[in-house]
Amino acid sequence: MTQDSPFTARFDLPDLAATAALGAKIASGLQAGDLVALAGDLGAGKTALARGILTALGLSGPMPSPTFTLVQVYEAPRLVVHHYDLYRLEDPRELAELGLDEALEQGAVLVEWPDRAGGLLPEDALIVSLTMPDAQYRRAELTGPARWASVFRG
Ligand SMILES: Nc1ncnc2c1ncn2[C@@H]1O[C@H](COP(=O)(O)OP(=O)(O)OP(=O)(O)O)[C@@H](O)[C@H]1O
Ligand SMILES: [Mg+2]
Repeated sequence: MTQDSPFTARFDLPDLAATAALGAKIASGLQAGDLVALAGDLGAGKTALARGILTALGLSGPMPSPTFTLVQVYEAPRLVVHHYDLYRLEDPRELAELGLDEALEQGAVLVEWPDRAGGLLPEDALIVSLTMPDAQYRRAELTGPARWASVFRG
């Protein structure tokens, strides 16, 4: 029996242009129902990567961090995208009130601080773990369903 081998990849992100390029790659494979979990410490570059994805989807203008609003909604030409920041979530059950299920039905979802969701996020999420080897430098480790391998190969 063949197991659906999960996708893993690692990218060095020496500057914001590299982050934008990774965002563009993710955007190229992003479909309705997809959730991209953006994990990493304070300042690791989660919002920067979200902006890279949104920009590549054709959005421009202000893309405020949803730190205080918890969610921002964008209507890109081919996809509605909900951008969540769960840092201030007090209980994972609040996710239902924030409309996560509807957001996944409508389009794609980006989630900063996915650990705050207490395991309530879909299992087929693309997980991007950002680390900050030093103040100017970021690294991204991706894991997700095998489908993403073809997105990154192309
Ligand atoms: N690849 C990169 N190279 C250099 N600087 C970067 C890179 N990615 C992001 N930054 C910078 O790091 C800072 C923090 O980025 P960002 O706000 O995206 O982090 P965050 O993970 O969303 O933080 P928070 O936990 O507060 O939401 C910003 O000034 C951003 O421009
Ligand atoms: Mg952020």
